[in-house]
Amino acid sequence: MVGTENDAGSQPLLSDRRRSRDTMTTIIDGNAIADGIRADLTDCVDELVAAGTRPGLATILMSDDDASETYVSMKHRACKEMGIENIHDEIDPSEPAEVLFERIDDLNEDPSVHGILVQMPVPDHVEKRAVLERIDPLKDVDAFHPENVGRMVAGHARYKPCTPHGIQKILAAEGIETEGKDAVVVGRSDIVGKPMANLLVQYGEGGNATTTVCHSRTQDLPEKTRDADIVIAAAGVPEMIDGSMLSNGVVVIDVGVNRVEVSERRSEGSQTESDEADTEKGYELVGDVEFESAREKASAITPVPGGVGPLTIAMLTYNTVKAASLQAGVDVDLP
Ligand code: GUN
Repeated sequence: MVGTENDAGSQPLLSDRRRSRDTMTTIIDGNAIADGIRADLTDCVDELVAAGTRPGLATILMSDDDASETYVSMKHRACKEMGIENIHDEIDPSEPAEVLFERIDDLNEDPSVHGILVQMPVPDHVEKRAVLERIDPLKDVDAFHPENVGRMVAGHARYKPCTPHGIQKILAAEGIETEGKDAVVVGRSDIVGKPMANLLVQYGEGGNATTTVCHSRTQDLPEKTRDADIVIAAAGVPEMIDGSMLSNGVVVIDVGVNRVEVSERRSEGSQTESDEADTEKGYELVGDVEFESAREKASAITPVPGGVGPLTIAMLTYNTVKAASLQAGVDVDLP
């Protein structure tokens, strides 16, 4: 276990064994979990290279959005560190959709490219669904193509979407059992909420949970979250879930990455180096969970930043390595 203040997070979480409020809380270290996965994946990359295939990921950015640029550059850095080849293209957001489609067609045909990622969102005049369907399903390392979504829902995923897969890895690394637990997913996005709920109800490890999906039309959200053993917050609304909405002993996974203006409270308080960098840019990152009140209730909680985010990137490299292995016909032992 990593980043712990005690060892309670390694125990199966049972509703009838919820811990008292004064029990210490495990602050889950997503960076450490991601480092372990990346180290194992680097061995897989070495095996593929030795067999004549260097995994290659192509990224396309068709946006001026600062956050999207940051995310793509973090993906590049992770690839580079692991020996994954990275091809990057930027398309001016004012260009017609056809420019993007032609680029995807070229990458589909390029044998040195095993994975293709078009950073979302794309401009309004580009139909998102058409983009996702244009990518060869074997190179669809986001797992957003309907063929890959269908395979996952049917219980035989080729690739799992990166963030929900990363959350499964976090729960496994922390010894948090999902089987028979009440899980509440807050948010129903195609990228996180829907696939997360689907993975949680699948048979097998990281699944077998009784899963509720809450969203903007849910009538009484606190009633649902208070009943949960595991809350996965992925609504994209800053600090919408606080401690009053949680039960003692709950596991809280915060997927939110919200940029909010720097508050006086934060700028006066203690900060990490990355917090300071964000503060200088005039914003701070907060999750969908109000961390301080939630940690009072939780047996384990992911911070923002440093919780789920590193796993999302690690699982993209996982899918890229898997894609290269499938396309090269070389088996590797994925972590
Ligand atoms: N935009 C926000 N998250 C993601 C993601 O996981 N994949 C892609 N392609 N775009 C995103």
